[in-house]
Parts: sequence; structure tokens; C-alpha cells
Amino acid sequence: KHVAVLMGGLSAEREISLRSGAACAKALGEQGFRVTPVDVGHDVANVLASLKPDVAFNALHGKFGEDGCIQGVLELLRIPYTHSGVLASSVAMKKDVAKVVMAAAGVPVPLGRVVHRLEAAKAHVLPVPYVLKPVSEGSSFGVFIVKDAGAPPPAELSAPDWSHGDLMLAEQFIPGRELTCAVMGDRALDVIEIVAADGGWYDYHAKYAKGGSKHLLPANLKEKIYQTAQHLAIEAHRALGCRGVSRADFRYDDGPDGSGALVVLEVNTQPGMTETSLVPEMAAYAGFTFGELVKWMVEDASC
Ligand code: DAL
Ligand code: MG
Repeated sequence: KHVAVLMGGLSAEREISLRSGAACAKALGEQGFRVTPVDVGHDVANVLASLKPDVAFNALHGKFGEDGCIQGVLELLRIPYTHSGVLASSVAMKKDVAKVVMAAAGVPVPLGRVVHRLEAAKAHVLPVPYVLKPVSEGSSFGVFIVKDAGAPPPAELSAPDWSHGDLMLAEQFIPGRELTCAVMGDRALDVIEIVAADGGWYDYHAKYAKGGSKHLLPANLKEKIYQTAQHLAIEAHRALGCRGVSRADFRYDDGPDGSGALVVLEVNTQPGMTETSLVPEMAAYAGFTFGELVKWMVEDASC
């Protein structure tokens, strides 16, 4: 089979996608596929039309790659592709819309509201502590955790070169722990607890620098909470209509008595596939090598 690995692209997460794509292309080659890496630009439809691969392996993240755009191009070209389709991708990429869809399916999500970045730059939009994040961004780009009511809100939000969109989601900061769980087809993988190395939060550095965070797999949770996280990952995947592999990110407020509440922050339809990423680690724990994981994705591809 000839597999085109789509990587790079035009989003803020371009560098991450190049890393995801390089790792996937190498592993697919080792699995015996004929691999063509494609650095995605505005001419991608023409490139794919002449390349005519059997499958497109989508290793893109963010704008145009994770939001239904490239998925629509691949549908039109009738090229089977990995991961979610058009609608699931565009809904999941827009965090405010995804929350409405998940909540309607009974998946707990954080309360919050959508604000313009200039409004959030001018005055506090929620009581502290709260989180501000672009509605359609990944890898923690443009995220602020606002803790100090006495300090001004983040001035970066009004910068002329702000490149993460005008709409921000403002959500009450949820104390507690950071969990994540991937879905692979119709099964949930195991739950990871993420502990940022410097006692901070799971920001860009913690995500992608070697040693930037510790991953506890399996997460040390009460059996019931562990299973609830796996169940919610599947429910969220289904509610959004995802396909193949997705990864749900959670906050778990374990509370003083340990009874605790889980909320789904978001579902990533194009989760990272870099050497420090979570999905390959979860798959390995479930007995899939990286090569077997990407092979499974290619076999699962459709259009
Ligand atoms: N947006 C990054 C790639 C992730 O969710 O893993
Ligand atoms: Mg994300």
C-alpha cells in the first residue's frame, strides 16, 4: 500500500506535526508500506490528486488539519484517511461547540463562556482563578491561567500580532489532577495522569520537552474513577462522532474526601504522535508497538 503521510501544515502546531509525521512515516516504512511524506500547504489538493495514494495518514494538528478542512479535501478526492471525518473534526476543534455536544450526551464539561480576546484583555471575565484558552487551538498555545485578582488580565491578548483567533473560552479553573485517556476504535486505552515536572501546568514545554512532565501509567486512581474516565472517553468520542483514535483530556478534582468529580476538557481528534506524546505510550501499555499502532490506523482508514 502507498501511504501519504500528511504533516507540517499551516497551523501554530506545525512543528509538532512535523515531529508526529516523521515518527509515523518512519514506523510505516518499517511496517512495509510505501511512504510519501507530504508537507501540507495550500496546494495539497493538487499534490494528492497527482500522488493518488491508497491511504492518507493524517499527522496534522490544528487549523486546516484537525478542523475538517483536509478531511473534506480527502473526501472529495476519494482518498481513505486516518482519524475522524469532517464533522467530528470540525466540532471537536471548536471547544465551545464540542462542549455543547458532549454535555447533551451527558458528558460532564466545565462551565464557562466565550469572550472576545479584547474583552478578556481589558478586565477579569470570571472570578479568579480561571482559564482563558482560544476556542480553536492546540498544544496549549494562547492559554492563560489567571490566578491573581489584583494583577491585570493578560496583556498579550490585545497584541496586534495575536494569531490564535479572537474568541476565547473562559472557564473556572478546576483544582486537582490532569488525566487523559485515548480511544482506539471501540475500546478505551488506559488512563494516564500527567504531572508537570516543575510543579506548573501541562503547558507547551511540559508537553514536548524531554522530561517536561511525568506520565503515570496506569494513573493511581480509585477503580471507579479510573473506569469512569475510560467510559467518558468512549462516550465523548461517540458523542462527537469520532473515528479511529482520539484522546480525551480531563480534570479530576479529587476533593477533600477523595470522592471527586471528573470533567472532560476536550477531545483531540489528531492527538500528538511525537516521541513524548501520550497516545503511543498508552498503546504500548495495551501491547501495541508504535509500528502496530500506525498500521492499525492505516487499516482503519476510510472516506
Ligand atoms: N494538540 C496536540 C497535538 C495533542 O492534543 O496531542
Ligand atoms: Mg487539544
